[in-house]
Amino acid sequence: MRLLVTGGAGFIGSNFVHQTVRERPDVRVTVLDALTYAGDEASLAPVAEQITFVRGDVADAELVDRLVADADVVVHFAAESHNDNSLSEPWPFVQTNVIGTYTLLEAVRRHGTRYHHISTDEVYGDLELDDPAKFTPETPYNPSSPYSSTKAASDLLVRAWVRSFGVQATISNCSNNYGPYQHVEKFIPRQITNVVDGIRPKLYGTGENVRDWIHVEDHNSAVWAILERGRTGETYLIGADGEENNKAVVELILELTGQPRDAYDLVSDRPGHDMRYAIDSTKLRTELGWTPRYGSFRDGLAATIEWYRANEAWWRPQKDATEAKYAQLGR
Ligand code: NAD
Ligand code: DAU
Repeated sequence: MRLLVTGGAGFIGSNFVHQTVRERPDVRVTVLDALTYAGDEASLAPVAEQITFVRGDVADAELVDRLVADADVVVHFAAESHNDNSLSEPWPFVQTNVIGTYTLLEAVRRHGTRYHHISTDEVYGDLELDDPAKFTPETPYNPSSPYSSTKAASDLLVRAWVRSFGVQATISNCSNNYGPYQHVEKFIPRQITNVVDGIRPKLYGTGENVRDWIHVEDHNSAVWAILERGRTGETYLIGADGEENNKAVVELILELTGQPRDAYDLVSDRPGHDMRYAIDSTKLRTELGWTPRYGSFRDGLAATIEWYRANEAWWRPQKDATEAKYAQLGR
């Protein structure tokens, strides 16, 4: 199989490439990545010899057409992915997430290529803390932020290209990922690296917001289950029943790093901050037989803390610029 992976130098994409090279030697991987502030070729260093890396933009129609013509399957991870950035500067989100997806869809339409679209549970908006409901594939779209609205727009483009043009596409909407190679702007790596630097972790608002955590390896094994056994035209929700509130996550990071569990600060809230996400992954589990391998969030988090401790050379170059951005926001 000739596999084109967009956004393969980012957090989830690089882990996907590592997993693919490790477990599927019959797959020939090409990565297309623009290396924005969020992309890092160093994340692909361990597999650099086994893949082809192309630096470029998913909205570059000529380049995308050339790469899609040489692929059997496209998995599209590339995106602007951080909610806080989308509130400060929405345009790159429209450009990459909407126009970039359109560009890929037109190329896979021309070449009849199988396409998998990586999306997020945030397209469904949020849930109340005391609501027993979880997101299902039938939940209406109701995105809150510029980031999630551009992801929702890209999902709708995929659905339209399936229905109108018969494109062979699947979509997955996953909950919050954690694990190695995640940019330090994101919640868990920001707090781990803050603790390493002697800075107190920072919780937005009251810290009661809930996210449904899944290890990145489990997200990516689900993507492979969809590529191998998923029905085209279908949407699959990926989640591992990992609901935790932000305060509990910070307390666990502090405990696992030997700090007092209350050594954090509450800071100003994110505007429009979604309260709770929760995924019902029944369809993925029953139809495709997928199960997560990382049973315990505590163990997965402990391993992630160890990874950041052991790989300071990877994250250190991102840290000052990231904290400078947060300082401007007062967070
Ligand atoms: P990330 O920000 O770590 O990586 C994004 C990658 O895309 C980077 O390597 C970046 O250089 C690249 N990129 C950005 N714009 C590009 C462009 N115009 N052309 C080519 N490459 C470009 O993001 P992530 O957290 O790995 O997320 C990957 C995908 O998974 C995104 O589509 C995101 O919406 C989705 N997702 C993320 C999560 C999560 O918890 N992180 C959960 C569900 C879904
Ligand atoms: O649900 C899937 C989504 O998860 C993905 O689509 C996004 O790409 C990904 O970034 C993530 O979005 P969130 O906004 O949930 O993730 P973030 O890591 O920014 O924040 C997680 C929670 O932690 C959220 O409630 C905000 C809060 N937070 C975040 C930071 C950076 C804090 O309390 N303090 C912080 O310093």
